[in-house]
Amino acid sequence: MKIPLSKPYVTQEIKDAVLRVIDGGNFILGKESEAFEKEMAAHTGVKNCVLSANWTAAVYLLCLSLKKLGRLKEGDEVIMPSHTAFPSCEPFIHAGAAPKFVDVDETYTADPAAIERAITPKTVGILPVHIYGHPVDVDRIKAIAAAHKLWIIEDCAQAQGAKYKGTRVGSMTMAAGFSFFPSKNLTVFGDGGAMTTNDDELANLVRKLRNHGRRDKNTNDMIGFNLRFNEINAAVGRIQLRELDRLNDGRRKAVALYRQLLGDVKGVTLPPVRPDSEPVYHMFVIQVDNRDGLQKFLSEKGVNTGIHYPVAVHQQPAIQALYKDIPKLPVTERIVNRILSLPIYGEINAEQVTHVCNCIKEFLKA
Ligand SMILES: Cc1ncc(COP(=O)(O)O)c(C=O)c1O
Repeated sequence: MKIPLSKPYVTQEIKDAVLRVIDGGNFILGKESEAFEKEMAAHTGVKNCVLSANWTAAVYLLCLSLKKLGRLKEGDEVIMPSHTAFPSCEPFIHAGAAPKFVDVDETYTADPAAIERAITPKTVGILPVHIYGHPVDVDRIKAIAAAHKLWIIEDCAQAQGAKYKGTRVGSMTMAAGFSFFPSKNLTVFGDGGAMTTNDDELANLVRKLRNHGRRDKNTNDMIGFNLRFNEINAAVGRIQLRELDRLNDGRRKAVALYRQLLGDVKGVTLPPVRPDSEPVYHMFVIQVDNRDGLQKFLSEKGVNTGIHYPVAVHQQPAIQALYKDIPKLPVTERIVNRILSLPIYGEINAEQVTHVCNCIKEFLKA
């Protein structure tokens, strides 16, 4: 049995939608993109959604907009976890800000106490990451931000559809970034991303900057970029969005079975869930002592796994070259050698999950 780590949702309806866009002859920022933005804003529970080329682009445009509004400047600090995908830090660095990396707690999300300790007079914002689709402790982080007058941008790249106390991530702070990269819970069969916000001024700036600072067809009143969105991807995204909650339910069902089958297995640590959270399990990440051995064994059995991420952001050469005095992050530095992402996607079935668990048990018994 061959089991992939992740698998995008593909149907004939999606293929037909792609062909319909091709026949329609409008390929960039047209009716499909406009509808996708409206539908995604409604699903997230937020006033504005602006599509862009990917998460990195959307958040970079957001940073530039904050600069124009005087809410971010050269040398400012933004607090973020190091246990995340490398791109999480990039838009802020390109915008002239310095990331301040903090440790995570047992849910793999940024430890609120560590965030509070990292605040300096230069801190202007926080980037909490809903890593693996598990919401951060939103209320505690919002309380810290409010007390220190900081903004929050949520990294929702792995968490589309997740809820915190019944409210969707991406709707509870100043702004958020989403990614539609092919492995994500919602994908568009290519790169893609978006930002969401209730702040109209911010949304309008991002919207303008993504399209050459264009006010109307022949007037450019800002120096912008081409970081627009394609109609084919929007048509795919609209169908994926319609199915997102059902597919996320499928992920949660699979995780319930993983928990049932691996709960008592000695040597396997399962990720806890904060009671106020409804995760969407972009990844289901266990910890074991002999991670590399288990990964190799599973690969021989046809089970594809991943490591997200083997090198923490603060330990990456690009970051080490940029900053001195990078603090040690004990939890992050320990788990990078222990974590293993098991196969998970909306349509994974019980037989596949059971097979993965049986293989894990076989390895640990040997
Ligand atoms: C947590 C996180 N943040 C940011 C990104 C960057 O997203 P994109 O590839 O769409 O720029 C990713 C995807 O790799 C991610 O997983």
